[in-house]
Amino acid sequence: DWNMPDYVSEAVARIREQVGDDEVILGLSGGVDSSVAAALIHKAIGDQLTCVFVDHGLLRLNEGEQVMATFADAMGVRIIHVDASEQFLGKLVGVEDPEAKRKIIGREFVEVFQAEAGKLKSARWLAQGTIYPDVIESAGGKTGKAVAIKSHHNVGGLPDTLNLKLLEPLRELFKDEVRKLGIALGLPPAMVYRHPFPGPGLGVRILGEVKKEYADLLRRADAIFIEELRGTVDTVSQQTWYDLTSQAFAVFLPVKSVGVMGDGRTYDYVVALRAVQTSDFMTADWAQLPYALLAKVSSRIINEVRGINRVVYDVSSKPPATIEWE
Ligand code: XMP
Repeated sequence: DWNMPDYVSEAVARIREQVGDDEVILGLSGGVDSSVAAALIHKAIGDQLTCVFVDHGLLRLNEGEQVMATFADAMGVRIIHVDASEQFLGKLVGVEDPEAKRKIIGREFVEVFQAEAGKLKSARWLAQGTIYPDVIESAGGKTGKAVAIKSHHNVGGLPDTLNLKLLEPLRELFKDEVRKLGIALGLPPAMVYRHPFPGPGLGVRILGEVKKEYADLLRRADAIFIEELRGTVDTVSQQTWYDLTSQAFAVFLPVKSVGVMGDGRTYDYVVALRAVQTSDFMTADWAQLPYALLAKVSSRIINEVRGINRVVYDVSSKPPATIEWE
């Protein structure tokens, strides 16, 4: 257990020594690991770092704006914000299979990032937010989704084609240490302690074919759910339900059901709420959220998001269900 201010200055010195006057690029996703890596490297080398933030159109409500506000506005980090949403959504037309969607999103991500990186001709290093558990996981050779996770996050193949050296300043750290480092570097606690979000984003939270219309509805429903979780404190533990859950989100079901509004009948989409508690994400229990919280989230979504007339709560544990629906 090391002393954080000392760790920060040592890590900063190590990065400076390693890269010298070279320029570095980093793919910023807004997730904890790449955010902490960006903050640390920026502290070490300032404008020698350029971050590339790819918006694939499958992010949550205001997520792109938040990343830009935190890094570009508040910290003065150089960021290229690439809005590639039309490109991604275009490639996903007609694709229903979850693994096919993952592959397309992962491949497109590498392509967009590579194109941006290629424009930064003076860059010599590719920085990544690889943490210790990623190092073990890659060595262990997992299959299935883990492979998809890797292929999306590790921007595979980039160092070879771009001739960049790898800079991975978080390689020795566990997740809780990365979080402490993030706090020490001044990142907002809400960013450092946020739930994990899959690389393919809403692409695997819209069942079947992804459409912009669905993504827009889902973003609004999900934001309401997260806002209420953050705003509701459990009286026993004095913690918010956001902090009491490990992951929570809304899932879009492209199924229409009948509802009634005023004098009329509606025929609209369904949203499922998912909230789990877990320590390792390998097994998970569905969270026993208070009924009052579920009631408020449900009525807000149905009243505020026109196009959704039914909200259901997922009461399945992992295994045999997975955390995500795809
Ligand atoms: P499942 O659904 O398999 O999820 O129980 C376990 C954890 O992995 C995350 N997950 C992903 N993360 N790319 C990612 O970066 C993916 O394709 C992916 N699929 C699942 C999921 O959100 C949960 O935290």
